[in-house]
Amino acid sequence: MSFDIRPLSDAIGAEIIGLDAGQPLDDAVFAAIHKAHLDHQVLVFRGQSLTPRQQIDFSKRFGPLDAHPTQATNHPDGYPEILTVSTRTENGKDVGLRNAGPQWHSDLAYRERPALGSMLYALELPDSGGNTGFANMIAAYDALPAPLRNAIDGKRAIFSSKREGTERPHPAIRTHPETGAKSIFVNPQLTTGIEGMDDTDAAAPLADIYAHCAEERFIYWHCWEPGDLIFWDNRCVLHIADHSRLDDPTYIRHMHRTTIAGDVPY
Ligand code: OGA
Ligand code: MN
Repeated sequence: MSFDIRPLSDAIGAEIIGLDAGQPLDDAVFAAIHKAHLDHQVLVFRGQSLTPRQQIDFSKRFGPLDAHPTQATNHPDGYPEILTVSTRTENGKDVGLRNAGPQWHSDLAYRERPALGSMLYALELPDSGGNTGFANMIAAYDALPAPLRNAIDGKRAIFSSKREGTERPHPAIRTHPETGAKSIFVNPQLTTGIEGMDDTDAAAPLADIYAHCAEERFIYWHCWEPGDLIFWDNRCVLHIADHSRLDDPTYIRHMHRTTIAGDVPY
């Protein structure tokens, strides 16, 4: 199997053209995709047709999977590795995680071992809205003005999960375990403060850093089509969902997510 790589923006992301993610990959093809993922941080595979089992098997090539903490939103047919991201309801209850990613974030940043990456596979989409933004935190780090860098350099940020009731410090600037690249790791959805800093003192630099990270020059916005599979590197990418139509009952968006387990950030 051979494939082409087409960058999707100047900032981040590439499309992998001509690969069927549902088929077993030989080691050479896997190595080429792995390299493309490190080079581009977000890979888009269009036109896929994947069963939950095929998505799990493809995801597992990149490492062991995390079962998502939100049991209620896992795939109903006994695939704890699949998180349903969906606006669908059944008998008045959400079938999945309805409001995934309302703010810029990195998945499971509040865990001791945040996710290496996540794969999101689109099954049903609305006629408009529901795009996902991906922001390059290596480029954002490289361009970070010195006063903001100094505000967090060498410090640990606190990440909190209301759902899990946990708080965890991680380096605010982390080093990619495979490439050595430094990136900004704080995010407005899950970071609640800076270790050793008064919350009121931390608020202003954090707000400025979030505004910097969300500059369009670092972002690729993906407009989904059914059959799109996206694999992002949570270690150096923030993502966000455009859910401006979330309260519209005709807004149906249904996806399957797998999550690849990561390392302790340093
Ligand atoms: C996620 C997530 C964003 C989206 O599944 O981790 O943040 O666009 N999703 O659904
Ligand atoms: Mn997410």
